Amino acid sequence: MSYYKIGDLEQYFKHYKKSVREPRKFWGKIAEENFVWYQAWDKVFDFDMEKHDIKWFTDGKLNIVKNCIDRHLSKRGEKAALIFEPNDINEQAQVISYNELYVRVAKMANVLKSQGIEKGDRVCIYLPMIPELAIAMLACARIGAIHSVIFAGFSAEAIKTRVEDCGAKMVITSDGGFRGAKTIQLKNIVDDAIKDLSSVEKVLVVKRTNEAVQMKEGRDLWLAPLYEVAEESNVAQIMDSEDPLFILYTSGSTGKPKGMVHTTAGYMIQTAYTFNNVFDYKDDDIFWCTADLGWITGHSYILYGALLNGATTVMFEGVPSYPNPSRFWDIIDKHKVTQFYTAPTAIRSLMTEDYSYITGHDLSSLRILGSVGEPINEEAWHWFNDFVGKKRCPIVDTWWQTETGSILISPLANVTPTKPTYATLPMPGIQTVLMDELHNEITGNQVMGSLCIKFPWPSMARTIWNDHERYVQTYFSDFPGCYFTGDGALRDEVGYYRITGRTDDVVIVSGHNIGTAPIEDAINQHPAVAESAVVGYNHDIKGNGLYGFITLKVEGTTRDRENVKKEINQLITSHYGPIGKLDKIQFVEGLPKTRSGKILRRLLRSIATNRLDTFGDTSTMINPEVVQGIIDERQ
Ligand code: WT7
Repeated sequence: MSYYKIGDLEQYFKHYKKSVREPRKFWGKIAEENFVWYQAWDKVFDFDMEKHDIKWFTDGKLNIVKNCIDRHLSKRGEKAALIFEPNDINEQAQVISYNELYVRVAKMANVLKSQGIEKGDRVCIYLPMIPELAIAMLACARIGAIHSVIFAGFSAEAIKTRVEDCGAKMVITSDGGFRGAKTIQLKNIVDDAIKDLSSVEKVLVVKRTNEAVQMKEGRDLWLAPLYEVAEESNVAQIMDSEDPLFILYTSGSTGKPKGMVHTTAGYMIQTAYTFNNVFDYKDDDIFWCTADLGWITGHSYILYGALLNGATTVMFEGVPSYPNPSRFWDIIDKHKVTQFYTAPTAIRSLMTEDYSYITGHDLSSLRILGSVGEPINEEAWHWFNDFVGKKRCPIVDTWWQTETGSILISPLANVTPTKPTYATLPMPGIQTVLMDELHNEITGNQVMGSLCIKFPWPSMARTIWNDHERYVQTYFSDFPGCYFTGDGALRDEVGYYRITGRTDDVVIVSGHNIGTAPIEDAINQHPAVAESAVVGYNHDIKGNGLYGFITLKVEGTTRDRENVKKEINQLITSHYGPIGKLDKIQFVEGLPKTRSGKILRRLLRSIATNRLDTFGDTSTMINPEVVQGIIDERQ
């Protein structure tokens, strides 16, 4: 009996049961039958739940890139691995076969080695969505270096925090990047970010925009001349199952981002398995995920999950609105995309455009649609279903997180009956539970609670880089013995899950996970600002927008308020990145606080979302007099 492919709903339930009753057998068999290993593992898993030390496939030896590329060469060498669609419609798309990808990754791996990068070194990658980004990630994994991709929309300060935290020895960037009508000067931003960091020995620069850049003698190198002369083959490094594969930073409820550490074997097995089943993968498919490789969605499904299955995966450099809002439909038509995986925020923005942008494109190649990043509202779900899928493509609403590594709750295309706004059922191996405030498991259906997972899974993050204590605190302390997701959920009468949203100080804006703390840190840098609190509110396009309540210092109250607002958003852009800009700013007399001095965010959230009925208990407030003023002047 093989467990890799789930054929129908009955089989799903069978596999699910097996995965709970005999997890060793279940995952062991999948690992054995579908991947290549240098050496088999000793135990399928080994957990020390006192220390939260989680190991899968102990002492197994492998290389994930050998599984992504080398093993496909004999059968699918000429098959397209990557299709690159540039930002500019006049630039030709690139089709990179598995054979060519092998050579390009091998050459890049040899360049990295020639520049002193060794197994275990950290390499930060700050590149636009060009093939070199995928190639650099794979080259790192091939030689055992730990990649940490930083989304190319992040500011210099955000880069600095990340490079410093992981102690990167190298940064890979480009002169610039194209995004819609704009070019972004990435190399300049990196120069600014790392000027005081001693760990960075080399900066490798890819040429993309022909922007003029400064090259620092002894530190900065153009990639091209090194790549030209690099050997075309490379022996993949032998890695242990639990060797770190990458670090990816995500926001937390305190200012500092968390460097989530993913390891090799478990991540490989579960991203491959979920890619195959959630998207009902077939050999001739053309898979397109519109995320950026700088996020976990890109890591797991544009890159690793797709290549592990020998699939053809599309990488798009640009934005949905450029040169006009039909770009996504153009790309689907042009490359005959079969699976289209995108975010509710993109759907909501495209559905406001004229209908003529979508008609006139042949979307008949599509078989399956996917949604990720935030709850998909009913209206967007139906528009996606009616206008994109023409009511013949199942929509998989996939719930997961940077921390989970792979999709944990989702319909399986052509297996699980879908229901609008429901992520439906947990994947085999995922023991989801709902918990009440007293930390007891809520059994039965038609219930609501905090979404937790009560048994480890192969692709879960193993730790926070340099801060295991924070890992334990953040994920395992609220509900002892369980991983707490930070999300609330309800379970309907048949056991389907619907995610209701974050229960902590993280706001999902346009599908991006934004901690309010680092935004507040940036606002508080403004000389006129005394204090600030940022909360989320419902936004038609972005899902959530950011609403800042700000008190000014006495000397600040005489300044031009519109100007201060502008300056605050500039500060956020430079300290965090433009995705953290506030949509609404309200200057207030005072922020509502408890006797112990904690800002009552719940109350501000109720005001921001216009739900004055959900105030809850205000008896612990020390300054109830400020509330009416905030309500009267709300935006
Ligand atoms: C948070 C994780 C993993 C993909 C990208 C985001 C929210 C994610 C869904 C969904 C409702 C969702 C959750 C989660 N989220 N997918 N299908 N339905 N909410 O990764 O940045 O780590 O954010 O995104 O709130 O906790 P992330």
